[in-house]
Amino acid sequence: MGLSSMATIFRSIPRAFRGYLCAPVPLSARKFSQLTDENRTLAGKVAVVTGSTRGIGFAIARRMARDGAHVVISSRKQENVKEAVDILKEEGLSVTGTVCHVGKAEDRQHLVTTALKHSGGIDFLVCVAGVNPLVGSTLAASEQIWDKILDVNVKSPALLLSQVLPHMENRGGGCVVLVSSAVAYLPVPRLGVYNTSKTALLGLCKSLAVELAPKGIRVNCLAPGIIKTDFSLREETMPNMLPELKKVFGVQRLGEPEECAGLVSFLCSSDGSYITGENIVVGGFSPKL
Ligand SMILES: NC(=O)c1ccc[n+]([C@@H]2O[C@H](COP(=O)([O-])OP(=O)(O)OC[C@H]3O[C@@H](n4cnc5c(N)ncnc54)[C@H](OP(=O)(O)O)[C@@H]3O)[C@@H](O)[C@H]2O)c1
Repeated sequence: MGLSSMATIFRSIPRAFRGYLCAPVPLSARKFSQLTDENRTLAGKVAVVTGSTRGIGFAIARRMARDGAHVVISSRKQENVKEAVDILKEEGLSVTGTVCHVGKAEDRQHLVTTALKHSGGIDFLVCVAGVNPLVGSTLAASEQIWDKILDVNVKSPALLLSQVLPHMENRGGGCVVLVSSAVAYLPVPRLGVYNTSKTALLGLCKSLAVELAPKGIRVNCLAPGIIKTDFSLREETMPNMLPELKKVFGVQRLGEPEECAGLVSFLCSSDGSYITGENIVVGGFSPKL
């Protein structure tokens, strides 16, 4: 085969794939910085991530920024936002941040306005912020507790998306990832209200996926198992489940926030372009059929 016909064949292989074929070291060992900007899977895109100053949200924000997106970081406390933004900027990533308590309408509006001001549009919305102020009997929960958990965990993603929607439509489409939990499938005793809120998110994901498909907007749900974060390590928000999980499912360890992040980036990328309405467990096991 002549050199020119080899060159023709080589030219027909996508550039990113060519790079991988030539990689002298395993993919996992390559640093993201070796990929040129335009080859990153989320290059040129803008992602808004709620509850992203630590834990799972922070890992998702970092991963999406490493994959080329401009990421708008947010959470309730200004000092947490500043710290997270400083860390990621120090790593050379493109991020901005603002305070947003997802349960407050004015904060949600401010988040959208900030994203538009700094980035000119929004392609992805990742709703990570979630709370659990009660470990105890479901039926003993006060109306205030029900309202808080449902407001933050279930209503706020829908309300925030309604504010983001026109801007995703302007971009010709988008991708939304809601963060549910494996407890949506496998209720944990004494977490009844929280379990219920996370199961509701699975339904919200399905409904929004159907409703928004004609607009080119995909909606999926990440359902983490027990992930090592401040939230899961605090007994007052989440009882220690590992011994039970070991017994029943053979799970040997807690997950790391970073182990949730790649899936979100994948779902938002063009590799996930035919996936919508899915609820995907990242938990070292799956209680789903
Ligand atoms: N860790 C797990 O095992 C696990 C398992 C399944 C599902 N999840 C879900 O994953 C999500 C993140 O949990 P995590 O473990 O990463 O928690 P985390 O480490 O405690 O981090 C929570 C993040 O959300 C922010 N936040 C809390 N309440 C907020 C609110 N009302 N509005 C906006 N931001 C808020 C916090 O910052 P500020 O304090 O500054 O607001 C922080 O950045 C939650 O929805 C949780 O239900 C966690």
